[in-house]
Amino acid sequence: MSIADQLHELEATARRECESGPASERPNLKVRYLGKKSRLNEILRGLKDLPDEERRAVGTLANQVRDSLTALFDGAAGEVTTEAPPKFDYTLPGRPVTRGTRHILTRTMSEVIEIFYGMGFEIAEGPEIETDYYNFGALNFPPDHPARDMQDTFFITDEYLLRTHTSPVQIRVMEKRRPPVRVLAPGRVYRSEAINARSYCVFHQVEGFFVDTEVSFADLKGVLTAFAQEFFGADIKLRFRPSFFPFTEPSTEVDISCLLCGGKGCQLCKHEGWLEILGAGMIHPNVFAAVDYDPKVFSGYAFGMGVERIALLKHGINDIRLLYENDLRFLKQF
Ligand code: DAH
Repeated sequence: MSIADQLHELEATARRECESGPASERPNLKVRYLGKKSRLNEILRGLKDLPDEERRAVGTLANQVRDSLTALFDGAAGEVTTEAPPKFDYTLPGRPVTRGTRHILTRTMSEVIEIFYGMGFEIAEGPEIETDYYNFGALNFPPDHPARDMQDTFFITDEYLLRTHTSPVQIRVMEKRRPPVRVLAPGRVYRSEAINARSYCVFHQVEGFFVDTEVSFADLKGVLTAFAQEFFGADIKLRFRPSFFPFTEPSTEVDISCLLCGGKGCQLCKHEGWLEILGAGMIHPNVFAAVDYDPKVFSGYAFGMGVERIALLKHGINDIRLLYENDLRFLKQF
């Protein structure tokens, strides 16, 4: 058999063997057909002894065979497999695609925004790094007010701090606008408090306010009642307790009838029948003075509530820290 024929046969045999065996055999075949002791190698080494013309022809062929077998054994150049393609079983149930959900806080926030947006409130935001003036001064906090205490406020410098509430957005909006203004200001706030099941160093508030001629406390009651019944349920009752905030007069704290016992008294409401949800009041004349609104012409109400607080109440969650730990076992429930 001529050397050329030998090469052709060798290639054919190698190919057949490769194609009929498992892919895992390829490295062994490679050694056998292309290794030092292979017939191909022997032919290549013997080239130098061949007459010129034959050497050229055989050399070219031998190189081609070596290249094509190398590609074959290395699995390149058109992956060769003899395994039948797995049949697709259309009757198998699909793999479940797990979908993420929005965080319960995000959802609560949007629900609140949605409800007030429906009642004609615009949305506004303010900076989380605030000045002492916006966070306290313009809101009628006296210089020695305890809320300014280092224990509550994260001060950055004497002038700058992390806002402790969203009320400063009232000032920022009113400075730029003339009444009527009806604005809702959601956002993150910070307090340097001990962390426990009920309080965290960062949380969210929604501030709302409305200024126009002839805005009354009755308007405030109406809007908050509509909100609470939409958010917590139609049979929710509200209670307005007198309270104090520097930026409102009169001021009130608002309770809803207990979500668990409906008012009879239980552990959740500490046998009071009521749960506090927000602070509110009629905007103080000194606040109007800070933004150059004439308190003889305009009146307005304001309210502020903790988003975490109402989320915990609505969903019966007993620890605020769960909202910040990103434990999927908890988050998946919502
Ligand atoms: N800013 C108050 C706080 O963080 C909440 C608040 C109370 C906001 C009464 C108001 C209000 O607008 O009228 O505790």
